[in-house]
Amino acid sequence: MRERKRHVVGLASEIPPGGRKIVEVEGRSIGVFNVHGTFYALRNQCPHQGAPLCRGSIKGLTLPSAPGEYLWAREGEILRCPWHGWEFDLTTGKTICEPDRTRVRTYEVTVERAGDEEDTSDGETGGAGDGETGGAGDGETGEGSSLKAEEIPPDVETYPVTVEEDRIVLHL
Ligand code: FES
Repeated sequence: MRERKRHVVGLASEIPPGGRKIVEVEGRSIGVFNVHGTFYALRNQCPHQGAPLCRGSIKGLTLPSAPGEYLWAREGEILRCPWHGWEFDLTTGKTICEPDRTRVRTYEVTVERAGDEEDTSDGETGGAGDGETGGAGDGETGEGSSLKAEEIPPDVETYPVTVEEDRIVLHL
């Protein structure tokens, strides 16, 4: 089996719940959707006649009900094709009408937490050291200080620190 490639396609904060982002990956147009806080990815090509499916409206659907009743459910989980109105389940890619026969291609999506690929011990040590040892050294190393010689921090190099955000990763 071919090993899938990892593609960072944006920041999780770019796509709030109910939102979407259409990206190009390996020559394919793919829609990434945030459905109630979980990300899903679908090929941006309707299996009916090739419309840009991921530009369609996002809605819910009516459930079977007794005459005179109106049951609306799954708001935000159904994608409607902009050309002829076929409806797809965003969480599976299956059509609502023929879920066992027709579906749009889906892709695995993960969210990489900020700092997952980094050595966080460096960042934490640097941050604590810069703040705490600097203050202690400046304020308490004069005459009468209770610090012992081995407790006085050596000069340390400091580096700029940035806060990274969670990233959306597609696996193709
Ligand atoms: S192209 Fe999507 S329903 Fe026809």
